[in-house]
Amino acid sequence: MIGKLMIVLGIESSCDETAVAVVDDRRHIRSNVVLSQLEEHKPFGGIVPEIAARAHLDHLGGLIVRALDDAQVGFTDLAAIAATGGPGLIGGVMVGVTTAKAIAFARDLPFVAVNHLEGHALTARLTHGIEFPYLLLLVSGGHCQLLIVEGVGRYVRLGTTIDDAAGEAFDKTAKLLGLGFPGGPAVAQAAVGGDAKRFRLPRPMKGREGCHFSFSGLKTAVRYAVEGLPGGHPTAIDVADLAAGFQQAVADSLVDRTGNAIELFRERYPSADTLVVAGGVAANILLRGSLESLATANGMRLVAPPPALCTDNGAMIAWAALERLRLGLTDPLDFAARPRWPLDPDAPPAAFAGVKA
Ligand code: KG4
Ligand code: ZN
Repeated sequence: MIGKLMIVLGIESSCDETAVAVVDDRRHIRSNVVLSQLEEHKPFGGIVPEIAARAHLDHLGGLIVRALDDAQVGFTDLAAIAATGGPGLIGGVMVGVTTAKAIAFARDLPFVAVNHLEGHALTARLTHGIEFPYLLLLVSGGHCQLLIVEGVGRYVRLGTTIDDAAGEAFDKTAKLLGLGFPGGPAVAQAAVGGDAKRFRLPRPMKGREGCHFSFSGLKTAVRYAVEGLPGGHPTAIDVADLAAGFQQAVADSLVDRTGNAIELFRERYPSADTLVVAGGVAANILLRGSLESLATANGMRLVAPPPALCTDNGAMIAWAALERLRLGLTDPLDFAARPRWPLDPDAPPAAFAGVKA
């Protein structure tokens, strides 16, 4: 440890990014390296778990050395070593957890297993220093949830998706439109200049009570729209219009559900005023603008971390670990990686929802 500063190294390997960062408890990101496995997975048009796990194994050691070098610290300066302990692709999670445990054992450091979703959920406290409680829209490739964040490890889930996550819908729609992977940025790029009103696409769940989401019907509507085109093949203009229409429909649906969540949040915490958006889809510019308008209309402020800290990274894992360390929370070296790890285990299951809810 340097002076009284607590410095933590965080490892993220639950999906297709191998990421390592060094962060201190004064909210300073000292280094942040992210290696994306885009090339490895591109030929398959999606993430292949076995390939992801092997790629994490190949790259993690080198990235840890780089993150320490960039931050100009050594293992002896660290207060702890953290890794995503789940939820995620279990092979990749195990690579990160095992590596962190080995370093913790060899260097006699505390080990912290971080819930990946808590990493996303607490990022706004790293980037903006906000206080609890706040309302969180967590939109990523694997999850789509509305949560009240009451404290570290204290979440009330107001809604979740009954089928696809928002990012998953972007990825599947991109594939359907012949755009690249990952789909979110590709759809957003293709949508520039597109006419969002040309195709009449549904706004899933809009106007319904509650805060649950659904995106598989929207994805299917895009497929029908493509099949209805002459020859069943979209031109570049068709792709732009469909991408714009899809992106707008997702934003409209997310805003509608978040509006309901604001009411529930306000019932519980009348004077709280912060809406946070986090997770990979929070990098979407249209969504950020729409949520900003919603927040303003409700007398709230929107806090959105910079896009590079919305998508998966090690800084959010190191930060969540720092938050836990400050409360005296660490994990034993026999911690087992968790494929599923809900933030609010007491939330009632959403009707018709699959296991990922
Ligand atoms: O949080 P994240 O990096 O990984 C998970 O925990 O899932 O989120 C990845 C997801 C992918 O589905 C990706 O297509 C989506 O975030 N995404 C976006 C954008 N950038 C990434 N979706 C919409 N617009 C974007 N600009
Ligand atoms: Zn994530």
